[in-house]
Amino acid sequence: MKTKILCGLREAKDFVSGQELCEQFGVSRTAVWKAIKQLREAGYEIEAVQNRGYRLIETPDILSDSELSSRIHTQWAGRDVIYKKEVDSTNTYAKQLGEQSGGHGTLVVADIQTAGRGRRGRNWVSPEGCGIWMSLLLKPDMLPGNASMLTLVMALAVQRALEKTAHVTAQIKWPNDLVVNGKKICGILTEMSAQMDEINYIVVGVGINANMEEFPQECRDVATSVYLETGAKVRRADLVASVMEQFEFYYDIFMRTQDLSGLMDAYNACMINEGREVRVLDPKKEFTGIAMGINERGELMVGTGDAVVKVDSGEVSVRGVYGYV
Ligand code: BTN
Repeated sequence: MKTKILCGLREAKDFVSGQELCEQFGVSRTAVWKAIKQLREAGYEIEAVQNRGYRLIETPDILSDSELSSRIHTQWAGRDVIYKKEVDSTNTYAKQLGEQSGGHGTLVVADIQTAGRGRRGRNWVSPEGCGIWMSLLLKPDMLPGNASMLTLVMALAVQRALEKTAHVTAQIKWPNDLVVNGKKICGILTEMSAQMDEINYIVVGVGINANMEEFPQECRDVATSVYLETGAKVRRADLVASVMEQFEFYYDIFMRTQDLSGLMDAYNACMINEGREVRVLDPKKEFTGIAMGINERGELMVGTGDAVVKVDSGEVSVRGVYGYV
């Protein structure tokens, strides 16, 4: 009910009477009043004036089931959203849902992660109230070998959402870091459970540094946030909704061919490594070359002078020859 009343207040833009809300949602006056009270307790500023009704004055940067559901208007991505104040890791939580009855497109969002995970066994610091820590559960009808490309699809979706909603132009450091002014603003961790030829589920985890005002000394040189880049705080629920909208759009294009042939031009256009010298951290043999963009499988094409080597995102990562990018 809270979500419905919140949508009603938001749509009204000005005062809306209690009676109108009752009629719109087919509920009693008491139910409306209770929902308004709960919304106020959650931090929404709602004005109440006799004979005029209620008016939503300010929506703070809140993450809650109601706030997220009232912002996400997609067909399926994030339509089922689960908000947790605190979890160990949204990826771990979404994987548990994947094992059970969690449906395709279910989104898990947390305010704090106590054991956030990054790629290559690293931990992901996820403090309270300033970041977006979320994981999207997918159950696609597709061969397991295609799954790693979804990481690139999500990178593109976040790039677009940051541009549209937060006015930040990030570039993608292949395969899945988003970078602004040489510093990381978002990381993506994709995990899968599969049989030989069938996917049980995929979890695409996204960590966006949204409103951090500073970073610990040890990562100050490599991490940034939307706030540090723009000087403005972003409403995290808006950004979550925008990522879901963009992901749904790009996912549909991806699924038509189950590869990146429809998206590689868009991806390459915002890839930071393109044309740069990179060091390929291949456990078998490290080498350097010039990054030439991705192919339709999402592999990075690296020119080494005498050959073009295809680098698979699942196995290796790249660094700039002189630093992180
Ligand atoms: C990386 O760049 O190393 C990937 C970082 C991914 C972090 C996100 S935060 C939400 C989700 N839950 C996790 O435990 N990790 C991902």
